[in-house]
Amino acid sequence: QRRVRVPHLQAMKERGERWAMLTAYDMYTAEIFDEAGIPVLLVGDSAGNNVYGFETTVPVTVDHLLPLVRAVTSAARRAMVVADLPFGSYQASPQQALATATRFMKEGLAHAVKLEGGAPMVPEVELLVRAGIPVMGHIGFTPQSEHVLGGYKVQGRGAGAERLVADARALEAAGCFAVVLEMVPAPVAAEVTAAVRIPTIGIGAGPECDAQVLVWQDMAGLRGGRAPRFVKKYADLRGDLRAAAQAYADEVAQGVFPAPEHSFEA
Ligand code: KIV
Ligand code: NA
Repeated sequence: QRRVRVPHLQAMKERGERWAMLTAYDMYTAEIFDEAGIPVLLVGDSAGNNVYGFETTVPVTVDHLLPLVRAVTSAARRAMVVADLPFGSYQASPQQALATATRFMKEGLAHAVKLEGGAPMVPEVELLVRAGIPVMGHIGFTPQSEHVLGGYKVQGRGAGAERLVADARALEAAGCFAVVLEMVPAPVAAEVTAAVRIPTIGIGAGPECDAQVLVWQDMAGLRGGRAPRFVKKYADLRGDLRAAAQAYADEVAQGVFPAPEHSFEA
């Protein structure tokens, strides 16, 4: 089957077809989500919270993400794989952004990159697109700036709505092929979605976006503790894995495992 590419996503918006994006950080999840027909996989810097055990995405580096991107691209046969540009790896200048994005394309074999920020990121987006790198934008709540935004807060309420529309339009004009809207009031996300021709991908942004994204460990119930309001759990992997580990440990303790069929004869 052919690789999902930018024009496919554009055509889906024109047909009014909604689609789902998931994060992936390793080979098996990439294979499984690809088999499930998920058209776009994001190797998010949410690996900071979901793989590396950081509290935020701020400490994530290119060296953290590159091997994960390589693992996902080698396993996903059909999905477009988008690599997140980590905090501090692209904001200094368009040249820095190009150098970092180039590493994700050449060494990670990514098909596209994602960066956070609206109108101020236009020069970075323009240079990457001119260089032939598809760029996904990310506005609304942008976790890399959580210390400025004052924590996980809904963005684009009141007067912020106008700025969000302007940011989305600026990213579209700069050449972004899609834009993530994170933690935005549903009516504002609907307004942004109507205002641009590129697909909007919502997370905590209501049902009117062209697509949705969730962190896979949230969606599959692997994460512990309370999930954000915008998460829906489609499985209980945490419970299932815990039960499997306990069953295995019990069988070893009882001498039930390994049985003769798991053992080699002389
Ligand atoms: O890193 C990530 O997982 C993301 C998505 C939530 C959009 O940026
Ligand atoms: Na991210």
